[in-house]
Amino acid sequence: MSKRKQYRPTTRLVHGPEHSAKWDFSHHVTPPLSSSTTYRLDSAKRGSRGFMEFGQHVSDLGETPVYIYDRLDEPTRSILEGELAGVEGGECCVTFASGMAAISAAIGCLMVPGDEIIAHPMVYGCTHSLFTNWYPQRGFKVQRIDMNDLDALRAAITDSTRILYFESPTNPTLQLIDIAALRELVDDVNAKRSEDRKLLIYIDNTFATPFGQRPLEHGADVVLHSLTKNLGGFGTELGGAVICPEWMLATLLLYRKDFGGILSSKSAWAIMVYGLPTLALRLKRQQYTAKKVAKWLEAREEIAQTIWPGLESFPQYELAKRQHRDFDGDFAPGNMIYFTPDPKLVSAEAFVNYIAQEAYSLTLAVSLGHTKTLIEMPASMTHSVYGGGSGGQSIRLSIGLESPRDIIRDLGTALDAVKKRKK
Ligand SMILES: Cc1ncc(COP(=O)(O)O)c(C=O)c1O
Repeated sequence: MSKRKQYRPTTRLVHGPEHSAKWDFSHHVTPPLSSSTTYRLDSAKRGSRGFMEFGQHVSDLGETPVYIYDRLDEPTRSILEGELAGVEGGECCVTFASGMAAISAAIGCLMVPGDEIIAHPMVYGCTHSLFTNWYPQRGFKVQRIDMNDLDALRAAITDSTRILYFESPTNPTLQLIDIAALRELVDDVNAKRSEDRKLLIYIDNTFATPFGQRPLEHGADVVLHSLTKNLGGFGTELGGAVICPEWMLATLLLYRKDFGGILSSKSAWAIMVYGLPTLALRLKRQQYTAKKVAKWLEAREEIAQTIWPGLESFPQYELAKRQHRDFDGDFAPGNMIYFTPDPKLVSAEAFVNYIAQEAYSLTLAVSLGHTKTLIEMPASMTHSVYGGGSGGQSIRLSIGLESPRDIIRDLGTALDAVKKRKK
């Protein structure tokens, strides 16, 4: 019996597996970083066994697998995958070179031409580009329906619909999708479907992370992550992950082997050694700061709207409290804020430009879930592929680990400096 199971996720993410058959490092306090593209095979028989067994689930308790070649499987990445599946409460995990590689693989390994995906209208810009620029050309049908409009969704689902796809919270607008409500609808649809044509719920959980939301508990089938963000946490590694049911594992691993978008062992190591053990600590601190910053923004007359799921004014506050719970069961509204200056009082662009030039505690940069507070304008940057549709004057803020007082002071100085004089 594993002692580890008695410990809370926060502790488990610090220590990892007690022992892993994937690699014997029982005398290392920190797991070593493997960096071998290929593996010595003692015999041709061992080589052929490795190829035959490829695609099977490798557990920490089983036999050491036959490693053959890094693109197929390797120990550091595999241990990270075990950690990610465990913390999301899923059966398996397959990592990728980036979040986009994970998203395109999780969809691509399931869909065949003629199949359809229904996606929420607002998603990360490159995901939107995948749906609008690439999939229609490849014979994948795409519909965009508000996932909270269950009647419209029910009416839109056809026999060719395979996937319902969304982010919750959405990037950048922080809208939430009620996962349990979707589950009910999907169960209804699936009652009349064969096993191999079940409709699946895919959620990109990058913003919340498993610290703040475990979508499988609410009824999702597949969870996606950009490890580049909160899970990596330090802004040094690109990566992505798919947490999936066991029946999907072999197909997803084959897809990764043949399309080749693997996570490098060096990135896997950094995410496992730095990112995961500090996840709870970073997110708690960033949320504490986000609360102070969001309340401060909400009280400023120059700011027309402040969106943060922990504010009582948040339109889906009740759903936020239900869906966003941390490892201890406490409310976890996250580290992302979305706000819109009142254009009569402040030009958003002038405000952001002032910050880019003068603020020490905030950095004008895309990405999020970093140790540093990052600010950007989605409509003209991360979501420009929408053509301005995501709110031209709105600003996305990803709270870092700085002192909240400094962030607020820098925001205040910038607002005062660019405030239009009232006539
Ligand atoms: C919600 C979300 N999903 C996926 C991605 C893509 O991740 P990556 O940049 O690691 O490919 C991003 C990137 O910003 C994101 O914000």
